[in-house]
Parts: sequence; C-alpha cells; structure tokens
Amino acid sequence: MTLWPRTLLWRSVLLIAALLAVAHLAWLQIFRASEIEPRALQAAQQVASVVNLTRAALVTADPARRFALLDELAQREGIQVYAGDPQEAVPALPERPFLRIMQDRLQQDLGPRTRLALERNGVAGVWVSFRIDEEEFWVTLPRSRIERDSSLRWIGWGALVLALSVLGAFVIVARINRPLRQLTRAAVELGRGATPSPVAETGPEEIRSLARTFNQMAADIRRQDEERALLLAGVSHDLRTPLARIRIALEMLDDRGSADLKAGVAQDIGDIDAAISQFLDFARAPDAETVTGQSDLNALAQSVIERYTRTGKAVSFTPAPLPLLPLRTRAMQRVLSNLIDNALRHGGGNVEVVSGVNNGGAFIEVLDRGPGIPETETARMLQPFTRMDSARSSSGTGLGLAIVDRIVRLHGGRIRLLPRDGGGLRARIELPSAPHAK
Ligand SMILES: Nc1ncnc2c1ncn2[C@@H]1O[C@H](COP(=O)(O)OP(=O)(O)OP(=O)(O)O)[C@@H](O)[C@H]1O
Ligand SMILES: [Mg+2]
Repeated sequence: MTLWPRTLLWRSVLLIAALLAVAHLAWLQIFRASEIEPRALQAAQQVASVVNLTRAALVTADPARRFALLDELAQREGIQVYAGDPQEAVPALPERPFLRIMQDRLQQDLGPRTRLALERNGVAGVWVSFRIDEEEFWVTLPRSRIERDSSLRWIGWGALVLALSVLGAFVIVARINRPLRQLTRAAVELGRGATPSPVAETGPEEIRSLARTFNQMAADIRRQDEERALLLAGVSHDLRTPLARIRIALEMLDDRGSADLKAGVAQDIGDIDAAISQFLDFARAPDAETVTGQSDLNALAQSVIERYTRTGKAVSFTPAPLPLLPLRTRAMQRVLSNLIDNALRHGGGNVEVVSGVNNGGAFIEVLDRGPGIPETETARMLQPFTRMDSARSSSGTGLGLAIVDRIVRLHGGRIRLLPRDGGGLRARIELPSAPHAK
C-alpha cells in the first residue's frame, strides 16, 4: 500500500501543505538568523550592566557590609559573585553564533580579559568574569536572563498557521475539483449508455470549455443514437409491411405448392421478423424507459418464464427471497427472455433459472446443459453481431447478448458467462441493490 493518495484533491492538498511547510520553515530560519545578532548584543549589554553594577557595588561598599550586599544580590536578582583565579580553566563555550557575538561584545565593554562560560565548577548558568585590580571574580546569572523563554510556543503557533493553511488549501482545491467530479460522474454515466444531464458550464475558463465540449459530445452521441433508431425503425417498418403481405399471401395459397416448402417459407418469415425485432431492440436507446419504482425481480422472472412454459418449453425456476430493486421492467424482461432464448436455442433441452442475493445486491442465473461458451470467447460474444459459429445455427442476429449487456450495465450491474459445473453455460446477471437510479 502506498501513502501517496489516489485522488487529485488529496494529492493537491498534500503538495500545497508540503510547500507551505517548507516555506514556513524557511521563513522561521531566516527570521531566527536575522534576529540572533540584535538579541545577542542586547543580552551582552544587560549582562555588562549587571557586571558593572556588581563591580561598582563591591568596590565602593563598606567592607563590613559586603557580605550583606552579596547576599541581597543573590536573593533579589539571582546574581551570585564568587572569587576566582585567572589561572583556572572553565569549560569552553559551545560553538554558537549567539554566544560568540555576546562574548565579543562583553570583551569590548568590560575589557579583553573578560571570560564568558556556561558552566563553572559543575554549576550551570551565565558566568562572566571581571577583575578588581588583579583579582578575578565571577558573576553568575540564571540562564533565563539571556535565553528566549520558550521555542515550544513558536512551534505551537507554527503548527496552527500550518493547519490553517492546509484547511485553506483544502477549500481551494475542493472548489476547483467540484466541476471535475461532476464531469467524471457524467462521463461514467455516458459510458454506461445513459444520457447524463448537462454539466454546469461555470468556473474557470479551462473547466468551462471542458464542460462545454463534454456537453456537446454527449448531445452529439444522443442525436446520433436517435437518428440511428429512427433509421432502423423506418427500415424495419418498410420491411415488415411487405413481409406481412407475403405471410398472408402464403396462407391464402391453395395446395399447389408442397406443404414442406410452405412451412419453410413461413419459418423464414418468422426468422426475418424476429431479426427485425432484435434490430429494433438494439437500436432503441435502453434508457428511454425510466425506472419504475422498486420491483420484484422474482415476480418479473416468473412472468417471463410462464410465457415459455405455456408453450411447452422446459424452463424451471428456483427463486430465493430478493430485495426490491429499482428496475426498468420492460428492459429486464428483455434480458431474461434473451438469455432463456439462448439457452433453449444454443443449449437445447432443459433450462433452469435461479435467483439469489449477492453482496447486498441480487443475481439471477440462466443455466443450460449445452456446449457452453469458452472463457476466451465470452467477451467477444457480448459484442453486437458476433456468434460463436455462424454455421451452427442458421438463424440469430448475434445481438441478444449485446442487448443484455447494455441493459444490465445501465442498471449498474454486469453479466458473466460462466462455465456450468458438469457442462453447459451459466449466464449470470448481477445487479446492485441501489443501482444508479436515473
Ligand atoms: N446458452 C448458450 N450456449 C452456448 N452458446 C451460446 C449460448 N448463448 C449464446 N451463445 C453463443 O453466443 C452467440 C451470441 O449470442 P447472442 O444471443 O448475442 O446472439 P444469437 O443468439 O446468435 O442471436 P439473437 O440476436 O437472435 O439472440 C450465439 O450465437 C452463440 O454462439
Ligand atoms: Mg440470442
């Protein structure tokens, strides 16, 4: 698993946050660097005046009162004075610009022999030496006198500023992303074969022009669909009328022709008629029908199956309790009858229909004991006008499964052509319980 987010929204937010963090840190660094010198000089000045005052007090104080004075300095100011030795070594100062500047300044103010240390005899503090005649003394102050109170507070403020910036970035990116999300949703719908409602053509120029182009494209597709449907409907009508006339003529024909020939011609007429119906169904945009509330798939299947059993076809049904589903009932009837037709025509013999629930959705399967469809061919069979073996069955347009696939996808589901245990085909329709009801 990678931590890099997948969505544009979070990628942009993360990038902006990283950028802000770097900028923030850089500024903090610049600020600190430029602030070191004035702060060091100021601290040096303070320490120098403490030393000067202490020194002056010691030099001028009445010897009898010196101890009391030192005691008072320690009590009130935290300043302590110790006698030292010019030969004595103190730990070297840590290499920090702040301390170096401070030491230079102290030596300027108090004389070149002034020493600065952060520790003496194991006691931490700001230690500064001064001399009275040739004797060395050390003054010590608490370190808080020269150090900033707390850098933690800075970190807290920094974190707050950063959090606010990330929030701001999120709001900005989310605003830019909204039209993109709308477009994606519409494109997915178009891909399923539905007609999406037009995307709002608002926002920045690039997004607006993208939305406009998309709407144009969706409208073009829609218009082409309609033109195709119209064309096919016209052709079908023009073919069906003479076909009906031939059928009537055939029936009125006296017994001059052979009965076999007549039956053959009648069969051909029936096939042509069925093919025309199939063409029409394929050409018709399936989303012309709207979803009719919540439907009972079992009842729908039962009614379709009864049409077959009435004419003596062997189709059995084993329903399981199903949730109600938002379906286009006429289209779903088409799905089932196409699959049952296939099972009867290509699978031969007995057909079983089974329903059940699956991941909160529903499935319905049509099973037969025919030759089945090899796994490598299943995707191809869903394409229009494809048939496994054109010679195997003389009739059939190769549109049945393409129609099924289109309708099922429109319902947000999918069709799977699986091998059945023990031979045959298991055509399985899976439908989500809350398909994109549009
Ligand atoms: N149950 C099945 N068993 C074996 N092969 C099948 C089965 N169902 C479909 N096929 C194969 O898939 C091909 C495509 O099926 P499809 O339903 O799309 O077209 P068709 O049945 O040939 O024609 P029609 O448009 O009349 O349905 C079929 O020609 C057949 O070769
Ligand atoms: Mg078919």
